[in-house]
Amino acid sequence: MSIINKFIKNNINDPYILVCTSKSQMLFCKDILDKKDIDNDLIPTPKGFGGVCTTAIKFDKRDLQDIKNIVRYNKIKTEGIYPFSKKYKYNLKEIYNDNLSQKFIDIIKKIEAGVDLSKEDIVYLLKAKDKEYNSLIKTADIVRKECVGDRIELRAAIEFSNYCKKDCNYCGVRKSNTTSRYRMEEKAILKKVDELYKIGIKTVILQSGEDLYYTTEKILSIVRKIKEKYRMGITLSIGERDHKEYKLFSKEGVDNYLLKIETANKELFERIHPDDKYDERVKHHRLIKEAGIRVGSGGMIGLPGQTLENIAQDILFQRDFGIHMIGFGPFLPAKGTPYEREKSGELEMTLKVVAITRIVCQHVFLPATTAIASLHPEGQTLALKAGANTIMLISTPPNLRENYEIYSNKNMVDLSFAIESTRDAGRKMPKYLNYDYIKDMGYDIEDSLI
Ligand code: 5AD
Repeated sequence: MSIINKFIKNNINDPYILVCTSKSQMLFCKDILDKKDIDNDLIPTPKGFGGVCTTAIKFDKRDLQDIKNIVRYNKIKTEGIYPFSKKYKYNLKEIYNDNLSQKFIDIIKKIEAGVDLSKEDIVYLLKAKDKEYNSLIKTADIVRKECVGDRIELRAAIEFSNYCKKDCNYCGVRKSNTTSRYRMEEKAILKKVDELYKIGIKTVILQSGEDLYYTTEKILSIVRKIKEKYRMGITLSIGERDHKEYKLFSKEGVDNYLLKIETANKELFERIHPDDKYDERVKHHRLIKEAGIRVGSGGMIGLPGQTLENIAQDILFQRDFGIHMIGFGPFLPAKGTPYEREKSGELEMTLKVVAITRIVCQHVFLPATTAIASLHPEGQTLALKAGANTIMLISTPPNLRENYEIYSNKNMVDLSFAIESTRDAGRKMPKYLNYDYIKDMGYDIEDSLI
């Protein structure tokens, strides 16, 4: 059994899903199932069964009666229990046209019917060119519109430390790189969060290198203060931590944890990460999820030595692992790293990956990554048109930003840039932003975008 299969609960053969009315009810229920040793897994609630980026409990039909009893006995509030079939139907009629190969049409029919794509189908789509390329992007755009609508999701990242104990071959802030290092203290971080709150940002991403200067207590203190004062969503992106820490983060209200798989090929993973083991990274995905925190994953496209089969595997990993937020960006060479002379990932290939990920994973958040915005001036707009729905602002204080160069020539995606990409992609900005405040700050934003 491969390690992925060991961690993906594959003893659920005839899957059902239980959708609760709230996250706390869902976690309460999961806890009981775990205590009773009933196999279960947390997955993004599929389209048609509940809100986007909420979590459903997947289980096997053999436990259906037991679970119904547990729900009744414990008065768990549920939306319902359903067979896990993708009941939601997409209308892809406009995709069919001349000049598409039979194989391509067969794949579109599978998507319409809610049949899972195979690795072979995905490899085929990754090779799409010309008319089939355009049809692939269009299909993803239709699925995106149905799943997450036309408004983008806007999040903001504070890169609060670029110290890192690891030496990943591709990363510009790897330990051995001579870059000037900085750390932000709690007060400076909270000051930045306050600015984001005033703009109306709902979720802040706290990102850093793997820096143990920030002890569990330090992180918890920041999380607690953000939750108390602002009630914002919090995403942590601080690398692999201990499983007890994930539990504590969860208890304190951390909503999401961004820890990318980068590549789901063990050999490639271990070649690019001299300090990491693939099986451990997979285990951490599982531990974060089991702690009740949604997992953000994804990876890099165009890594040295990466094949189309590897990329297909990366996409399937996201689906089979029930990942809620999936960020795929191109690999970009970073100065001073062992890979500084390698070739960048390609724009079209990255866009195809975004599109296929939307088609395969559907009811999830897909960022138009900073990396794709750095590869090409229109990369972000094109990603939004290829299935992506989320933009991450770089909200690190300006004087520190340039030191967080995980790759060279990073695009410092700011609010103006995000507004422009949204406009160019023909989409709308989120409802929840504080537009009066934003306009007072001098941003140019027309009412049709709001
Ligand atoms: N090229 C592209 N993406 C990179 N990342 C880090 N270094 C690079 C690089 N050289 C991405 C990884 C990481 C995220 C923070 O940035 O996917 O998880």
